[in-house]
Amino acid sequence: MTPKSLLDVVPVIPVVVVHDAADAVPIASALVRGGLPVIELTLRTPVALEAVARIAAEVPDILLGAGTIVDTDQAEQAAKAGAQFLVSPGSTPTLRAAMRDTGLPHLPGVATVSEVLTALEDGYTEMKFFPAEAAGGAAFLRSVHSPVPAARFCPTGGVTTANLADYLRSPNVGCVGGSWLTPPDVVARRDWAEISRLAGAARELADATRES
Ligand code: 3PG
Repeated sequence: MTPKSLLDVVPVIPVVVVHDAADAVPIASALVRGGLPVIELTLRTPVALEAVARIAAEVPDILLGAGTIVDTDQAEQAAKAGAQFLVSPGSTPTLRAAMRDTGLPHLPGVATVSEVLTALEDGYTEMKFFPAEAAGGAAFLRSVHSPVPAARFCPTGGVTTANLADYLRSPNVGCVGGSWLTPPDVVARRDWAEISRLAGAARELADATRES
């Protein structure tokens, strides 16, 4: 899949932590079956790059992102492993340059208005807002929209079905991201049907919010 805009592919980006590389393909496939053909695989475990490579090889109909990019090497390694987009929880000029050097679409992380302005100066109009709930939530994003309408966001960090609609109703939110679609206990018992169900429920809620 090739994205037009990372924020407009699906309304919910599943943020996934994988501890066993063998779980990567079943999780990605379950998300696709549930109606969310995008994954942000976080580079937080020793098997994460292998997980990216396995999904790249075996789940062609998913848009495959690598998240938690916090240093320049990770940007390059994720691209080599087959990631199609990159996401960072925060961003520095060096990190943004490294992500740009991969040639992949990417979402730099921001958490303050000054960081939003810095990213805009650097040519970005799409950003990850992290940690969303801790940094001001949907109210923060609505407040930013008036003075800085050019910036659009994917909030992640504390987003759940309880606050999803509030975020999606903010005019500068393209999509949200979150790990609630792959709860650790559900992954541990390899209940892929439950992951599809959670993805389907999130998709339905998000679509209904957008249509209302
Ligand atoms: C991320 O990396 O985007 C966040 O850790 C996801 O946050 P959550 O676990 O609160 O959904």
